[in-house]
Amino acid sequence: MQTVFSGIQPSGELHLGNYLGAVRNWVALQDLQEQDRTQCVFCIVDYHAITQGLEPGELSRRTVEMATDLLACGIDPARSILFVQSHVPEHTELAWVLSAVTPMGDLGRMTQFKDKSDKQPENINVGLFSYPVLQAADIILYRAQVVPVGQDQLQHLELAREIVRRFHARWGEIFPEPQARLTSTPKILGLDGNAKMSKSLGNTITLGEPDEVIRRKLATAATDPARVRRKDPGNPELCNVNTLHTFFSDVDRVQWVREGCTTAGIGCLECKGALADNLIAHLAPIRARKAELEARPALVEEALREGARRARELARATMLEVRARVGLWS
Ligand code: TRP
Repeated sequence: MQTVFSGIQPSGELHLGNYLGAVRNWVALQDLQEQDRTQCVFCIVDYHAITQGLEPGELSRRTVEMATDLLACGIDPARSILFVQSHVPEHTELAWVLSAVTPMGDLGRMTQFKDKSDKQPENINVGLFSYPVLQAADIILYRAQVVPVGQDQLQHLELAREIVRRFHARWGEIFPEPQARLTSTPKILGLDGNAKMSKSLGNTITLGEPDEVIRRKLATAATDPARVRRKDPGNPELCNVNTLHTFFSDVDRVQWVREGCTTAGIGCLECKGALADNLIAHLAPIRARKAELEARPALVEEALREGARRARELARATMLEVRARVGLWS
């Protein structure tokens, strides 16, 4: 039996970057799990989120929104374990134990720590520094072998393996070494065409966005910068709108874009209009489920409670063993 674990920050509504980069793959892994003898465990990491300065009301609102969107996208609480990190206190408990075998120097080398410190110089807290220790705890609490993540998390995963090795060297082998499963999605850029799509940069399209907003936002999206006038041919490889077409449009349409763009046969607006149609069609069932869940918030709450109950059962068993190995008197 293999366990897949992944976590996502409660950043509120999902946007296309989260969807293509993470959640779509989670749903695919979940759908494989019967054949693969796999258990999928997905966690909304609210304890990680508090290292950034969110208002309390905002944190809980975003947590519920994230859960709603994950369910709307097809995470099925009957098959996967979906829960909120802080509902399972063993995460922070194990993180403390792991912090005793984590070298400070390794944490100081994490590029995300440096990036986040640059972004919030007024709030460089210890939690931001030890963030990867909690992340390692998230994973090994469920003895997960497979961790679907994007490129930006590889360094954290490498450190998680190092922490596991140090735990083993000191207290004996009990965990598998977790492996990252890289999602094959290319980086999804924001509408500005410069930076990764991200809520804090305000360059996103969220899954719940009304049709007109999707059309309006796409119309402003950056394309190949060399294509200044309608008659200039463009290079689809340098165009984020083309990247999105490859996910939401069929092969004929993708071919139409490629030909039309490179020969200036179609204009960018026409290309974006076709993308908007296909994107809206793709999102329609997700949005319908989202509306259902928003009308019945108790469904979301129940799913999270049940997920936490199941997660906690697994987490408790691991912590019992950890306590015994470490020699904590019981
Ligand atoms: N750090 C991850 C991110 O920012 C989220 C995360 C927390 C995570 N715990 C995890 C991802 C465990 C994978 C496994 O995307």
